[in-house]
Amino acid sequence: MLCVFLIASTVYAGYLYPEQIHLSWTENEGEMRAMWVTYLPVSSVISYRPILCNSIANPTEWTNIQGSSISFNEGQTITRIQYIHTGVITGLNENCYYEYSVGDGLFWSDIYVFSGRTPDYSAPFNTKEVEMIIIGDWGTGHNGVYTKHLLSQESKIRDFDGILHVGDFAYDLHNENGRVGDRWLNIIEPIATSFAYMTLPGNHEGHKNFTHYKTRFNMPLNEANNGTSYFYSFDMGPAHFIMMNTEVYFDDSNVTAITQMNWLLDDLNKANNNRELRPWLIVLSHHPLYCSVNWELPLLQSNGDCGPDAVMLQKNLDDVFYKNGVDLYFQAHVHNYEREAAIYKNLTVPSEYDGPNIHIGPKAPIYITNGNAGNYEGHNDPTSPTPQDWAQFWSNDYGYGRLIVYNNTHLYYEHYSSPDVSCMDHVWVIKTQNRYNS
Ligand SMILES: [Fe+2]
Repeated sequence: MLCVFLIASTVYAGYLYPEQIHLSWTENEGEMRAMWVTYLPVSSVISYRPILCNSIANPTEWTNIQGSSISFNEGQTITRIQYIHTGVITGLNENCYYEYSVGDGLFWSDIYVFSGRTPDYSAPFNTKEVEMIIIGDWGTGHNGVYTKHLLSQESKIRDFDGILHVGDFAYDLHNENGRVGDRWLNIIEPIATSFAYMTLPGNHEGHKNFTHYKTRFNMPLNEANNGTSYFYSFDMGPAHFIMMNTEVYFDDSNVTAITQMNWLLDDLNKANNNRELRPWLIVLSHHPLYCSVNWELPLLQSNGDCGPDAVMLQKNLDDVFYKNGVDLYFQAHVHNYEREAAIYKNLTVPSEYDGPNIHIGPKAPIYITNGNAGNYEGHNDPTSPTPQDWAQFWSNDYGYGRLIVYNNTHLYYEHYSSPDVSCMDHVWVIKTQNRYNS
């Protein structure tokens, strides 16, 4: 009888403890949002305090803030209700780290730590070096485990500012009545509890109007995205980052391509008026505009991702990116790593100097495919034995990358092999003017 009581108590407590905890920045400077899940409707509380501040010698008292929650039926064939909690810590000091715990006031998570540095919208501006992990097409299953191990280790020994996930999560968030999404959010929890995990949607999130994506992730609001987390931008360090949604060109449910384009053009215009302060303009989205598979060869004509789909996206975005002086476009969807030269209208645009791992004074966007974090699909688009002329490096290995924007002139990107725990490729991009075609 005692055993039955203990087992019942354990199951009950399991429904109350927070899980799937992840952080994200909001549309406001100095804010960090935490989201987490319970399986019973309980209160939403974040307890936090600053530590390691330049100006605060000792940790201060803990502060409790009240969040909110929604019930979410994550099931498709059966009803599975989970409670998704959200709370936002405000007034962060970029010189502090913060320790925090989430819970209901009785059942708490572990204590985690994040940096108080967030996107930056008001003077005095912080344009010091910014480092981002960039990752795409990461799901459950053994192919993604190497990436989990390497990124978990790296996040504990080598600091960075945030994580940018370029679409396709879990494979898929809604599968097995939402259990796959639950499992994957728990896989990333050791990382996403310490760093803002910023997302944009891929095709694997499209199920039922992106319901799981929009419900499980809350990204910065803007006047056009209608709270969908589909597209947004932020300033950090010497760079302006744009996270956009190429799914609108394949499935325009909720937000149309025209809505996003109007927002994008306005956002690019604002960014271009600010390039003395933040000269780097970096765009990320899921579908590729340029990848090295030579789809014109008859053998590979079936490759739609780098073929007809990429050509369609070029028609929509190539001029927009080039004419607005976009420096880099990070793309995914294709499950490998590819780095291209500066490209416009399907042709290499020579820089002032181009080497195998360096571009000085590039004059068009540089394209990098980052879709090899690993998932059960494996490598759906093997790299071509006859890549395009503008292809610089390509690999079928699994991994992810680190972007370092050092200052107004120097940017560095390196891409890792997760199984080999090694750096497979790197590139320097050096500006000789704030904007190449101004
Ligand atoms: Fe995809």
